[in-house]
Amino acid sequence: MRLDELSFGEKFKKILAAEGIQELYPPQEQALKAGIAEGESIILCTPTASGKTLASEFAIIHALEQGGKAVYVVPLKALAYEKYTDFKKYETMGFRVLMEIGDLDAKKYSHKPDYDIMVATAEKCDSIMRSRPDWFNSVTLLIFDEIHLIASDRGPVYEIIAAKARKLLPGIQVVGLSATIGNAGEVAGWLDAKLVESDWRPVQLREWAVVAADGINSIKKIVKDNASKGGQVLVFVNSRRSAEAVAEQLSELKLNPEKKEQLSELSEKILSALPNPTKQCERLALCAKGGSAFHHAGLVNSQRTAIEDAFRQGLIRVIAATPTLAAGVNLPARTVVIRDLHRFEADGLEKIPVLEYKQMAGRAGRPKYDKEGDSIAFAKSEDDREFVEEHYINGTVEDLHSLLGSEPVLRMHVLSSIASEFTKTEDSLLSFFATTFYGYQYRQGGRFEKEFRKTLAKTIKELSEWGLIETAERFLNATPLGRRVSELYIDPMTAKTYIDLFTKAEKQGKHGSLAYLEVLCDAAEMRPHLRVKKEDESTVWAEAFNLEEDLLRELDGFDLDFEFLNRFKTAKMFNHWINETTEQQILEDYNIPPGILNQKLQNLEWLAYAAGEITRLIKLRKTSILLSNLEMRVKHGIKEELIPLVGIKGIGRVRARKLYNAGIKTPADIKKADIISLKKLLGEKTAEKILNDPTLCE
Ligand SMILES: Nc1ncnc2c1ncn2[C@@H]1O[C@H](COP(=O)(O)OP(=O)(O)OP(=O)(O)O)[C@@H](O)[C@H]1O
Ligand SMILES: [Mg+2]
Repeated sequence: MRLDELSFGEKFKKILAAEGIQELYPPQEQALKAGIAEGESIILCTPTASGKTLASEFAIIHALEQGGKAVYVVPLKALAYEKYTDFKKYETMGFRVLMEIGDLDAKKYSHKPDYDIMVATAEKCDSIMRSRPDWFNSVTLLIFDEIHLIASDRGPVYEIIAAKARKLLPGIQVVGLSATIGNAGEVAGWLDAKLVESDWRPVQLREWAVVAADGINSIKKIVKDNASKGGQVLVFVNSRRSAEAVAEQLSELKLNPEKKEQLSELSEKILSALPNPTKQCERLALCAKGGSAFHHAGLVNSQRTAIEDAFRQGLIRVIAATPTLAAGVNLPARTVVIRDLHRFEADGLEKIPVLEYKQMAGRAGRPKYDKEGDSIAFAKSEDDREFVEEHYINGTVEDLHSLLGSEPVLRMHVLSSIASEFTKTEDSLLSFFATTFYGYQYRQGGRFEKEFRKTLAKTIKELSEWGLIETAERFLNATPLGRRVSELYIDPMTAKTYIDLFTKAEKQGKHGSLAYLEVLCDAAEMRPHLRVKKEDESTVWAEAFNLEEDLLRELDGFDLDFEFLNRFKTAKMFNHWINETTEQQILEDYNIPPGILNQKLQNLEWLAYAAGEITRLIKLRKTSILLSNLEMRVKHGIKEELIPLVGIKGIGRVRARKLYNAGIKTPADIKKADIISLKKLLGEKTAEKILNDPTLCE
């Protein structure tokens, strides 16, 4: 079908034509026939790279032309950014596009009624729905990208969003996109959606299994063969360390010699991502010089995007990555190498699911970039090769199973349903959860009501005991505390721990920062903690016992609690941060990559904020003030005395320390200070900028 045969969206068609799209892909045509552009709910289960995004855009344009609004839910911030950038093109049609990925406090959500398309991460979307903004009533379309993630640990949020939206907005169109669902019929059944399936792919993908016991040599050969034809390679491995090692060995191939200068520039850029480059930065910068890179959660954002962009531009010719890269990101790999089909789990090495294999393989041969694609999975022996062929290449993807039934997950969503006055009785909770995928799957098995009633009753009892909800007659209401916990988007169990231990802090007057940090780290949101090595255990125990007086819990009986030990180590690392140890030093001492440290600090800042809010509500006055201070200290990595200074735009931990040591301790001191010494301390430009800032002494 030709683009100009579409019977709607005149401007839309022009935008697409300008992008070079003339013919629709067959799965897109199938989706149209099934009514995707007429408000019909659809599960679109078609191969990777088969153009599912555009198919969902037909639904978006239809919804907007009818005066509705569309919400596009993605699993990752990186993907939100990719889609947001892509959808920006619709602004020329007069539609406003908004990206929501940030702060999860529903109370702070500022209502923005004048957008038309919102791209949001699942948690943010759920959080926004908790605050029930008015505009939500005009949403007529909800799209879930990568809907197979419904069976991952973050999947329950997808379920809740869908179930709530369908209850609040009867008739809402729901579109789910995925290349890899075993039981797509079941997912469609749950959402009363039509199922559109196809095997069609715009670029042929050949999947191979090869015996490659020599690992890196085989990878080198594949990379060299590709490079000679201008092709690029993605190598998937199962650990950060492997990704780095493989990328380093590949950089020896000096892959893009004619672009030497640009690669040097890229290398410089990577090296200067942090004020003091870490070993990881140095390794990555060195790889880049040789035309290779590694990609994993330990990179800081600017490095990650620099690498992705350089790969898109054909500058970096090979990336060795952990599987997080596989989730729907559009990178031009002619060939994918899957070196590891196992990964480390709590019980040791385990086979990865077929679903993950297919997602990785599907990164090869993306339209616009390549005419064909190869995915090469490594096997250790001939027997293994046969297994890989049968199990992965010709195998079927697993069925998706809901994880909503687990107690911690349920706890959070039961509270949020009650707090946002979405459900008011046990029965209405039951019928609401019956409309989730969890309820749907269990009802199919004839088991839902009896078992779920029991779990629900237990959850309600727990939430009441923790003071988060109360029952009057048969009505369930959230207490002000419960409502706040729900808005803050933290696990009720985390809230309970904080309430108990910070009450103790207030009563006993124990306010040491390490004690606070140890409590803050006791949250599902802070896992995984740093691990204490076997040989260090006794030293860390000794240290903890020494500090027991200052901590908020007794260590007796904790002897075998590794959780505590790991948490204590994590808290210690944070304590260094807020006492101005350099980032470089922390990264080295704790052997943690910068990207992971950043993530953990962001989580901690959030938890300190949440704890500050909760303790303020229950009138732990001193503790709440100290927690707010701690939040600032975590944000900036400073001792308490620098707090007034970091409030000034342009002043971070390093400059604030310089000023303070020179006797300039507050914004008022800056105003009074002698300009020459200020310039000496801060540099000419910064000093002038700060002095000219009208908000300086506000
Ligand atoms: N009709 C079309 N003609 C030409 N190119 C198209 C067409 N439809 C989509 N594309 C291009 O195909 C590429 C892949 O599309 P898209 O990212 O939507 O794949 P997908 O089906 O979502 O895959 P994945 O499952 O990996 O997320 C994009 O670069 C897109 O611009
Ligand atoms: Mg996609």
